[in-house]
Amino acid sequence: MRELGVGEAAKRAGVAVSALHFYERKGLIRSLRTAGNQRRYAADVLRRIAVIRVAQRVGIPLEAVRQAFAALPDERTPTRDEWAAMSDTWRAELERRIAQLTGLRDKLTECIGCGCLSMAACSLANPGDLLAAEGAGPRRLGDR
Ligand code: FES
Repeated sequence: MRELGVGEAAKRAGVAVSALHFYERKGLIRSLRTAGNQRRYAADVLRRIAVIRVAQRVGIPLEAVRQAFAALPDERTPTRDEWAAMSDTWRAELERRIAQLTGLRDKLTECIGCGCLSMAACSLANPGDLLAAEGAGPRRLGDR
């Protein structure tokens, strides 16, 4: 399998070298080391980086990406079916986020016209009055 140096991998993936080091520290990609202790990446690292960047763009946490990558083979380039199976694991989470954002979009229009941010009634400030279940008083003061 063709190997890439860190500069070439970063350039072809469209990321900074520091991003490769970060992804490696997070266990998302792996490198081999030359006798001179230089990093070398298998060519399929480019696809992994692309998946990482897309996942970040849609809000999938890096830990979820790491877990999904753990199901892929390390010793060879994953097949199309293996990539598809991995992305299927995110389908339910993506649909939940889409529903959440759609609801937010619809409620945001109402709230822009209102502006009350009522803790009892506003679905943006306190969706479903969930804070009431946590007890009385200023529930959010500890968040700051
Ligand atoms: S700002 Fe009034 S209901 Fe959300």
